[in-house]
Amino acid sequence: MKVQSYCSGLFFLTCAGSLAANTAVINIDATQKGPQINPRMYGIFLENLNHAVDGGLYAELIENRGFEDAKPPEGYIYHDGRWVDSLGARAYDAGFERFGYFTNGLPFWSLVKDGGAQGSMNLDMSDPLTPESPRSCRLEIDNAASGRLGIANHGYWGIGVAPGEKFELSFWARCADGFNGALTATLEDDAGDAISKPISVTGVTTGWKQFKATLTGVKNDSNARFVLATSAKGTVWFDMISLFPAKTFKDRPNGLRKDIAQMIADLKPGFVRFPGGCVIEGGTIATAYNWKNTIGPLQNRTEIWGPWNYRETYGMGFFETLQFCEDLGAEPLYVGFAGETCMFRNVEDVPLPEMGWVETNFLDAIQYANGDASTKWGKLRAEAGHSKPFDLKMVEVGNEGGTRGFPPRYHLVHALLKENYPDLTYVNDLSFLPRRWIPGETSDMEDNHFYNSPQWFMNNVHLYDHRDRKLPPVYDGEVAVTSGEGGPDKGNLIAALGEGAFLTGLERNADVVKMVSYAPLLANVSGRTDWHGMIYFDSTRVFGTVSYYLWKLFGENRPDYTVQTETTLHPDKAPAITGAIGVGTWNTSAEFKDIRVEQDGKPLYASDFSTNISGWREDGGTWSISGDAYRQSDDAVGLSYFGDEHWHDYTMTLKARKLHGSEGFLIVFGHKGDDKYWWNVGGWGNREHAVEFNQNTIGEHASGSVEPNRWYDIKVEVHDRNIRCFLDGTLVHEMVAPTADRFFAQAGRDETSGDLIIKAINVSPDPMNTTINVSGLGSFGPRALATVLASSHLTDNNSLDNPSNVAPVTNNFSIAGSNFVHDFPANSLTVLRLKTR
Ligand code: AHR
Repeated sequence: MKVQSYCSGLFFLTCAGSLAANTAVINIDATQKGPQINPRMYGIFLENLNHAVDGGLYAELIENRGFEDAKPPEGYIYHDGRWVDSLGARAYDAGFERFGYFTNGLPFWSLVKDGGAQGSMNLDMSDPLTPESPRSCRLEIDNAASGRLGIANHGYWGIGVAPGEKFELSFWARCADGFNGALTATLEDDAGDAISKPISVTGVTTGWKQFKATLTGVKNDSNARFVLATSAKGTVWFDMISLFPAKTFKDRPNGLRKDIAQMIADLKPGFVRFPGGCVIEGGTIATAYNWKNTIGPLQNRTEIWGPWNYRETYGMGFFETLQFCEDLGAEPLYVGFAGETCMFRNVEDVPLPEMGWVETNFLDAIQYANGDASTKWGKLRAEAGHSKPFDLKMVEVGNEGGTRGFPPRYHLVHALLKENYPDLTYVNDLSFLPRRWIPGETSDMEDNHFYNSPQWFMNNVHLYDHRDRKLPPVYDGEVAVTSGEGGPDKGNLIAALGEGAFLTGLERNADVVKMVSYAPLLANVSGRTDWHGMIYFDSTRVFGTVSYYLWKLFGENRPDYTVQTETTLHPDKAPAITGAIGVGTWNTSAEFKDIRVEQDGKPLYASDFSTNISGWREDGGTWSISGDAYRQSDDAVGLSYFGDEHWHDYTMTLKARKLHGSEGFLIVFGHKGDDKYWWNVGGWGNREHAVEFNQNTIGEHASGSVEPNRWYDIKVEVHDRNIRCFLDGTLVHEMVAPTADRFFAQAGRDETSGDLIIKAINVSPDPMNTTINVSGLGSFGPRALATVLASSHLTDNNSLDNPSNVAPVTNNFSIAGSNFVHDFPANSLTVLRLKTR
């Protein structure tokens, strides 16, 4: 294989070689300059998902501090035991049901009754602290003279405490006439023993009053709770009970958790896309992001139900996030709600005549960030402590708008912004819309989102090579391996290497791709959805996945421009397809029988489902025996596999019958580890047949469909890498399976240091013995640095207990002359920095 890679539009030959020989040649011509790489190419995408912000980066330790978690999710109604939207459809995620329990209660708070104390706690909406925080907690102390009665909060899956660590407590309280006792605050362990020095406050009055105190930890604990209690009789109301570590990132009040923020800062992000994707869209119009709810005193911020199944405090609001960007030295990229809610939930569109507030919110956000203190919104920013404008330069209009309703709304907002603030860069993600719905619609930058398998990312290293350079530049705003070998344990080594391979292609096409970010960034290990994170944490610990380290290395080793890089792999023979067989369906129910696998005319397997199905390994769907057939009876994705990973050169025959559902059959072969081929018969809405490798089509699609209740004769021949597929005796596909690239390299120059930077990714179980020929640099070396991110297994990852299991290691080495040999380790990213000065 030969890949020439220094700028777009050049050629790329599909790999015909194998990695078995494990040798390669990289020819680098430093005189052939490629595109400049945006200094702010690598950034982050910060979204409050997986308790990334509340219960994560935002350092607040009390969960449900304002008692607003009892509020039903805005725009949803409780119907037949479920919270549903106006269309009667359920919210997107499971787990939403938990709010059934919350509406009348005080979620995350519990009553503390010690020493025979009597009393109760209740949600109360009389005499609100503010209109935005109408709920409070009413504590009625009937008798606590010989003990204490109080309320406890376990924080977000436990509060982390260390000896000598200080915590800033603040809360609002009022009482009924007659209460004149002290309120005592402590941090306690599981056994109820104090692990902070108790602090008492007095002077509660019948009107709301704020109290502040500092607690000091005396012991290590990662699972502490906060208790506020009294021994006096009477009634006390509480609201906005807040506890922060005294030390926050950059020592900001209402600040961020130091360790998590530092992990982010270590990435040195060039920009921060915020506050989210689905978060800005909301599940309903009432839950769409409105930045105006997120500024000002905390008790004046209206908390809103977020699309990731928890209420957002907005403690880290528009101001705090702009402040964080400034602290990071990153450009803010604000994403605003553009009138269409999340298309992966139930899309709602703001009626066009009512779009005014949506449009105004964009204009006002820009004025808040950039206006001087004489403007209405700039004044509020100055009062919040930042008189200097934040100089917001990038705004994204909506997230993944995906219906016909989006284009007119997008157009309204975009045109208005262009008219009022023509100098800003406007980003959009219109990739979910057919082009014909948005004829002529343009933007300054196009946002694309990619969630896929490692193989998909490796296959798409050349995605932008042939892009029409007249189209707007690109921001790949959400990039992550989420399936295939990197799926179950996202962020592992194979996931990282897949992402890294893709990033080499983005650098090569840096004239098109201006920015890129991983998604999602953060995840609380206890507060996750199905989504993953690049940085995980619990109450006291934090770690980065292998993806974290790979992206960090790409950011730290971003060249100023690429140089021509040609990679040639040893032209050896590709390995034969090997692996087990299987059958399955995609949103369809079907039956299979008379399955035979033969090698050289000798049977490897012959099914007899009337007697047994032992040895079949089911993976989704509902499988059973029906007469002499093996049936998958759900209209679902369901697979079942049989046989040996070493099977090769075989012919598989079977009969298959569709029962009901929207597609046909999946006939699996070459199933080894996480890799598999399948023949998708009647796929794509029962309109086409095609062979796929790890769900990526190889070869051509053929038109065709599958009728229900009819037995089809199916035959798949696998010889070496040749595949032939027959339906009812007719040859439908014949192809040689391509060998995917598994070695990637890209070089560039760092103008400041003069270094030649070579990034190489070797996704193979053996080292890649590589000859590197560098021309155009005159004499250079012998000093060089090699930073390697590698591990023995592609599925290896880091964890809270082993945060550096897979982490980069840097070593010096010497090179002799401009041609030298380097072994790139198995399963690795290597960054070479060759010193030219
Ligand atoms: O990153 C998680 C989600 O994926 C984002 O909110 C959304 O933009 C995408 O669908």
